[in-house]
Amino acid sequence: MANEQNIFAELIAHCKEYGYIFQSSEIYDGLSAVYDYGQNGAQLKKNIRDYWWKSMTQLHDNIVGIDAAIFMHPTTWKASGHVDNFSDPMIDNKDSNKRYRVDHLIEAHAEALRVKGDEGAKEADALLQQMDALLAKDDYAGLKKLIDDNQIKCAVSKTANWTDVRQFNLMFKTEFGAVAADNPDENIVYLRPETAQGIFVNFLNVQKTGRMKIPFGIAQTGKAFRNEIVARQFIFRMREFEQMEMQFFIRPGSQMEWYNYWKEERKRWHESLGIPANKLRFHDHVKLAHYADAALDIEFEFPFGWKELEGIHSRTDFDLTQHQAYSKKKMQYFDNDIDPATGKAYGNYVPYVLETSVGLDRLFLTIMSLAYAEEKWTKEDGTEDSRVVLRIPAKIAPTKLAILPLVKKDGLPEIARELMNECKGSFMCFYEEKDAIGKRYRRMDAIGTPFCVTIDHQTKEDNTVTIRYRDNMTQERVAIKDVKDIILKAIS
Ligand code: GAP
Repeated sequence: MANEQNIFAELIAHCKEYGYIFQSSEIYDGLSAVYDYGQNGAQLKKNIRDYWWKSMTQLHDNIVGIDAAIFMHPTTWKASGHVDNFSDPMIDNKDSNKRYRVDHLIEAHAEALRVKGDEGAKEADALLQQMDALLAKDDYAGLKKLIDDNQIKCAVSKTANWTDVRQFNLMFKTEFGAVAADNPDENIVYLRPETAQGIFVNFLNVQKTGRMKIPFGIAQTGKAFRNEIVARQFIFRMREFEQMEMQFFIRPGSQMEWYNYWKEERKRWHESLGIPANKLRFHDHVKLAHYADAALDIEFEFPFGWKELEGIHSRTDFDLTQHQAYSKKKMQYFDNDIDPATGKAYGNYVPYVLETSVGLDRLFLTIMSLAYAEEKWTKEDGTEDSRVVLRIPAKIAPTKLAILPLVKKDGLPEIARELMNECKGSFMCFYEEKDAIGKRYRRMDAIGTPFCVTIDHQTKEDNTVTIRYRDNMTQERVAIKDVKDIILKAIS
């Protein structure tokens, strides 16, 4: 059994062994920070995405969903500020040639200081405070001095021989079209680094065709790409990942009200997925992104510490105003509601935007790190037993029900197949007749299947089956005709 230190490594290995996540292009030794989802992972990811989509677009009557293209006109990224601002301060170690994000380098040093006890913790806090102040001012010379003064060393070369701090843009570029342009820059398009801009450029299309009235939201899920420098911790920081974003269009001046509303609403939503409240916390941003007047992260306590799971950003009218300026197309809304302060209609304005943005892969990792458990117990006869189980909430588990005939004969497989046919239109089922029943239960525990039904000889006599519950391993006898409803009730 693994101890606390290597439980995360065990989880990564488990994800591979049970068809959840594979390294991309593994046969060619993989591609760093890019992953493929296997048969169980793809289904779990889809279930999480569907749960988000339904909660946004079906349960809110003022939020609609779209699916914008990954490629966008290159001016989009000029207007959004990503060409000029979407960069991180980086520093290179001259001996190892290893490049670091400055904040990650300093944070790692602070973590190492904390291990030294109270004095170290004080030093770490002071260091991080200085770093935040310098980052907020984009003071790169100051950051370099902070690294030098603290003698922060490269983890590879163990030296403090650093370059200056420089900005590094995180967008991937590619060429568009088959014809070579005179100016090669003309053909450049970017792989979108966030899905949000696809929503902003469609704001008026959706508002007009959907006759949406402010406040209203546009939701979208989809791939985003960032050339992350320090990409590690499995699927936590990837170069190709998926976002689930919602832009909520509001009246100027109402942003703090909606900021507080969505902050609580999104935390509550995570709790509805079974994430315990004490594993979630808010972290207010000190350095605001170029588009925001307030921002926070909802953080989760991952096995490697507290890290961002979702961002809540008050984006003001920055994006729509920028697109209006660059496209020369009006991005305004006419609000005919009466402003109680003036007694007149609010009239024309560029709406403000409140954004909720959660990484689907990060949420996947959150669910998996909570679900993974290695259990050991003593049986009634005094012998030891153990299992690895994924306690994925039943409503999002990839397979809901395993249907298992006790033996491969005596008409039991036929009854099992009949049950399978009855249930498979309503939820994901898995049929298996190979190996002893205990072994089959363990396999289902390992992929997180919440319910198993066993068809045995008694089934032929009284039309009952044994239903076995993954979480407490209890079993009960139920009528075969009730199985579908029992599962539907449990996953709804
Ligand atoms: N539209 C706003 C935006 O993109 P962000 O804080 O940069 O804001 C939002 O990203 C969310 O996307 C993050 O909270 C995180 O869950 C996810 N995310 C960002 N970069 C990621 C990466 N490299 N790998 C995996 N998920 C990432």
